[in-house]
Amino acid sequence: MSSRHVAGATVVDGSITVPGDKSISHRALILGALIRGRSYVGNLSPAADVAATAAVLRACGGAVRPFDDGRVSLDGAGPGRSLRSPDGTLDCANSGTTMRLMAGVLSGHDLKATLDGDASLRRRPMERVAAPLRAMGAGVSTQDGCAPVRIAGTAQLRGVEHRLEVASAQVKSAILLAGLSADGPTVVHEPLPTRDHTERLLRACGADLAADGASITLRPGPLDPFGLAVPGDISSAAFFLALAAARPGWRVRCHGVGLNAGRTGILDVLIAMGAEVEVEDGPMAAEVEPQGNLTVTGAPLHGVTVDPSLVPRCVDELPAIAVVATQAEGRTEIRGAAELRHKESDRIGALVTGLRDLGATVDELPDGLVIDGPVRLRPARLDAAGDHRLAMAWTVAAALVAPDDGESVIEGADSVAVSYPGFFDDLARLLSGPR
Ligand code: S3P
Repeated sequence: MSSRHVAGATVVDGSITVPGDKSISHRALILGALIRGRSYVGNLSPAADVAATAAVLRACGGAVRPFDDGRVSLDGAGPGRSLRSPDGTLDCANSGTTMRLMAGVLSGHDLKATLDGDASLRRRPMERVAAPLRAMGAGVSTQDGCAPVRIAGTAQLRGVEHRLEVASAQVKSAILLAGLSADGPTVVHEPLPTRDHTERLLRACGADLAADGASITLRPGPLDPFGLAVPGDISSAAFFLALAAARPGWRVRCHGVGLNAGRTGILDVLIAMGAEVEVEDGPMAAEVEPQGNLTVTGAPLHGVTVDPSLVPRCVDELPAIAVVATQAEGRTEIRGAAELRHKESDRIGALVTGLRDLGATVDELPDGLVIDGPVRLRPARLDAAGDHRLAMAWTVAAALVAPDDGESVIEGADSVAVSYPGFFDDLARLLSGPR
């Protein structure tokens, strides 16, 4: 496990191009490997999680190949026809998206497979995806509700109507991907709308998919191959945007960032806190996903309430938001975020511990956090708990310590590779001055 020393920043003023979006990359690989014909994906995320999806697809006979210009080519034979039983256990590593989405895909093929992962992934709830897939006719078993997930799939699933208990784009996507092999319509109702990357890409491929608020209906039918340049990952950009927001006059510009409305809650929160946020809409990526340039300029911030309805739109950004909240005048309340306890770590518990070590005033709620600011953060030894987003949030906090007060140490900093292998290099470039 690597540790990293991080000093307080004197100024933040620069531009950055973050790597391709992780969520969109998973879906592009999976759909490209299923759809009959050849698809191409450019600007694929370099995340270890996405590499896990590529490896799982390949282990099942999926044709995922490097092409030119850094693009990846994908060849499929159609849903239900593209994958076969792998030789061994499928290793999803740290990636919940790989395990849940692939559970849906594999359920819709005539094969047997076992999905497993690292210690963190083995603690995460999998019945939420197993139960609807069983209702569709697949054999799916979990171990005490968790991985390993054993699948006996069939290319003749039943279309079902499923009401999700928790708002989860991963579970919704697993059901829709299985629904491609169903004999009739698949309907998913969400308690709150979540990111719709799967729906957008399916529709771009010609799927008969209707979305009405938080209800989605998919009717299986022919799909066309696609070409997609993946936009930049707003969840990676979020750490730099949060850092800039926290000090008046600091500024970060991010180019070509995905602006899917299911992902832009971080911008709403920063604006509500008082930061200056400029959004310059760019051309849609292959008419599938909105993208554009973002500039965030820091200002004196005040505390906000992050309402439960906003949580799915910024679920992965809550660690960064919690760090910024320590610099805002007054109280910030995050509620309705119990799902944070089931991410790569118990992010609520870990945030409370780390923020207190940094000198912040924090109260723990079963489903969130209450943070009173502003405080002068002090250097600390912070544990990423094997969680990439905590490693990056702690780095932002360390950069917000006054430079003369000393360095912080991030334990387990190498976990950033799960979503953003170049994070520390990009941060160093940003801190080296205006460009
Ligand atoms: C993701 C959905 C979210 C998010 C995760 C990626 C996706 O999880 O936290 O990092 O790509 O669908 P849930 O849908 O389970 O909340």
